[in-house]
Amino acid sequence: MIVHDPDRRLWILSGPSSCYVLHLDEADRLRTLHWGPRLSHEQALSLLRLPQPEHRSMEDPADGVLDLASAGGLRYGQAGLQVRFADGTRDLDLGYSGERRTDRELVLEFADRHYPLTAECHYRIYGDSDVVERHLVLRNAGEPLTVARADSATWVLPRLSGYRLSCVRGQWMAETRLHRGELPYGETTLTSRRGVTSHQANPWAMVDDGTASEEHGAVYSCALAWSGSWRLTAQRLPTERVTLSAGAGHDPVTWELGAGEELVTPACAGLYTEGGFGSASRAWHDHQLRHVLPHAGETRPVLYNSWEATGFDVSLESQVKLAEKAAQMGVELFVMDDGWFGARTHDAAGLGDWHPNPHRFPHGLGPLINRVHELGMRFGLWVEPEMVNPDSDLYRAHPDWVIHRPHRARTEHRNQLVLDLSRPQVADWLHRTLDELLAKNDIDFLKWDMNRPFTEAGPDERLWLDHVRTLYDVLDRLRAAHPHVRIESCSSGGGRVDLGILRRTDQVWTSDNTDALDRLEIQHGFSQLYPARVMGAWVTDSPNPYTRRQVPFDFRFHVAMAGALAIGGALTEWSQADLDRAAELVAAYKRIRHLVQHGRQYRLLPPDGELSAVEYLAPDGGQLAVLAFRRARRFGHADPGIRLRGLDAQARYRDQTTGQIHHGAVLLTHGLFADLAPGDYASALIHLIREKG
Ligand code: GLA
Repeated sequence: MIVHDPDRRLWILSGPSSCYVLHLDEADRLRTLHWGPRLSHEQALSLLRLPQPEHRSMEDPADGVLDLASAGGLRYGQAGLQVRFADGTRDLDLGYSGERRTDRELVLEFADRHYPLTAECHYRIYGDSDVVERHLVLRNAGEPLTVARADSATWVLPRLSGYRLSCVRGQWMAETRLHRGELPYGETTLTSRRGVTSHQANPWAMVDDGTASEEHGAVYSCALAWSGSWRLTAQRLPTERVTLSAGAGHDPVTWELGAGEELVTPACAGLYTEGGFGSASRAWHDHQLRHVLPHAGETRPVLYNSWEATGFDVSLESQVKLAEKAAQMGVELFVMDDGWFGARTHDAAGLGDWHPNPHRFPHGLGPLINRVHELGMRFGLWVEPEMVNPDSDLYRAHPDWVIHRPHRARTEHRNQLVLDLSRPQVADWLHRTLDELLAKNDIDFLKWDMNRPFTEAGPDERLWLDHVRTLYDVLDRLRAAHPHVRIESCSSGGGRVDLGILRRTDQVWTSDNTDALDRLEIQHGFSQLYPARVMGAWVTDSPNPYTRRQVPFDFRFHVAMAGALAIGGALTEWSQADLDRAAELVAAYKRIRHLVQHGRQYRLLPPDGELSAVEYLAPDGGQLAVLAFRRARRFGHADPGIRLRGLDAQARYRDQTTGQIHHGAVLLTHGLFADLAPGDYASALIHLIREKG
């Protein structure tokens, strides 16, 4: 619901338990008066009587409290909107020019008082979610100008007693490591300059007053829906005003906005929650399941992926053997990874030539696809369509199609270059090639990979935006033309996970790191914002091919069950006992996956301790699954009870394996004793169903 008070120049955007209040001051500056618990109209009006920031001679007191933070005047803080007009003028002088509004959408219009530039602030709310989405639209009717920064949103926090920032850091094989620490004075910038979301940082941030815990406290968070370069600045002014400002692009990329052109930024979502970080995460998960994911109601199938089993050594025979083993253990979707196309027998050739390798698949993909379907599974295929190896027919025919500069070497990474999707003929080729691949083959699923960042980009800086826009456009068109196809977003593991790509894909590849122990931490960070429903998690071999760590079979399975379970091991080398056990564990996952994929997630104990655990509770509270892990046991340390969350204290719950009855009141206070095996790497899945009556 959006309420407008035209006399007091106030707008109140309300969600079920929070609200966002905007006020236009006498100078037409758009202030955030409130972002927090829900307020009535009368309560919101009373905010106008609160003392305003003091006027100091050195600066504009509105610095750090503006929703539309444009550069100009005595404002020296971080400005979400910065331009350079043709005559060199950098200041914006925006006047309010009107508003448009529905129940769920609000547009506030501003125009520069001299130059023919308009800025529109767009807001969207959802009724059943406390997320407020905001984006910006700039229109230039004058001479070409330069946009130095056009953030999607600037979120203004109230004065708190302290400020603590939560975000994730990472690298290839070690994505989404949670970082939580005091927000320093000045500007803290999280960014990707790579043309893709990145492993190193992810475009979201949470701020609390330093006292929030997993279960208590207010959390202010935001997330940008964008899969290219981005920048999120957390600013803490000496006056203790804090803003989070996020947008596409990175320093020092700027864009020319020609006469008659408009710039529409991606959306940035803001969310205020109470109840700690756990509650913030659940609100984000819930919002994505309701409003972001295209087929959120579907259950993700158990997937098999051939990459760790066969690498580039792909053939019809080897894939069929894997598929037969996978089908026997209950796999529902078989994915053939890299190595099936062109001259792709290693990573130095073939990218760009998206037709089956004639030696490996002399009769095309048909025989493999038919066999996989006969086995009762869906068929998925790996592609990396934004890339080209110099040793490929595509590159030999179109060497100018890659991102490059004439006087610079073309920097290769993994022997490949990036196609310039901002060029219309490349965009057409990309769409046509994939459309044909899907039309000619009975493919149910694509793993869409992107394995290297941009280099030598320019001179048209629009590339940073247009590459992503083309990607989104092609994904949207392919989905519309092939509605049964589901898509996994991958970028050397978890390099492209964000609210933008999740709007057009069905799951993500979380990390190339399939070591179960490392995964616990990666999954913990991933879950801060993203739901288990999209988190692809494979069970692979032991010792792990990357880390050489040996981890027991059940532990590897239990860790992968915390997301969309998949298998990625060399099944033809697994013992019959392991194959049989795998079938039992896959069946166990199928009994609880509705809870993992559609339930509410409670991080009971974080992965840095001896014992960690996560709970998934059915939306109606009628049943739950707990996954518990003990990494190593120290002498004299007895496992604590794992206190469960969200249960009815008066209800009784039956353990589906042992038949034992547990009381809600006891599970909530003393906890669940998981009866883990005595040694290291002990794990358990516990499935409890509420007793009737
Ligand atoms: C990337 C992906 C892997 C695999 C390889 C294939 O690294 O993250 O899962 O698909 O590419 O080359």
